[in-house]
Amino acid sequence: MIAAAQQRQLLAAARAVRARAHAPYSKFRVGAAVLDERGRVHAGCNVENASYGLTVCAERNAVAAAVAAGAKRLRAVAVASDGAVTPCGACRQVLAELGDPTTDVLLAGPRGAPRATTLGALLPDAFAL
Ligand code: THU
Repeated sequence: MIAAAQQRQLLAAARAVRARAHAPYSKFRVGAAVLDERGRVHAGCNVENASYGLTVCAERNAVAAAVAAGAKRLRAVAVASDGAVTPCGACRQVLAELGDPTTDVLLAGPRGAPRATTLGALLPDAFAL
C-alpha cells in the first residue's frame, strides 16, 4: 500500500477533478487520479457526449493524462464518486495496461475513508500480450 500522505493526495485529486466532470446526461460525476512510477499524480473526469456511446470514463481519461505526461507505470488509482463505486470492466483492463495486480485502488465517496483494494482483486487474470 502507498504511504498515507500519498493516499490523501491521490484521493484529494480525484475528488477535486470530479467537480469538472461533464455529465449532463447521467448526472453521475466521477473523478479519478493515478499515481505514476515517479510519484506524480494525473487526474481525469468522465466526459459524456450527446451520442451516449462516446462517453469516456474518468479512469480512462486519467490514464490518458498520465500517458500524455510521460508516465510508464501506475502505482495507485483513486476513484471518487457519489459512493465507493468500482471501475467498469473496460477501465479495469485499461488500468491493467500500466498497472499490475498489486496496484492500489482507492474507492471513495465525497467524504470519509476510501475502500482500499487492488487491481488484481478487481481484474484477476487480465488480458495481456
Ligand atoms: N463512469 C465513470 O466515469 N467511471 C466508472 O468507473 C463507471 C462509470 C461514468 C460514465 C458515465 O459518464 C457515468 O459514469 C454513468 O455511467
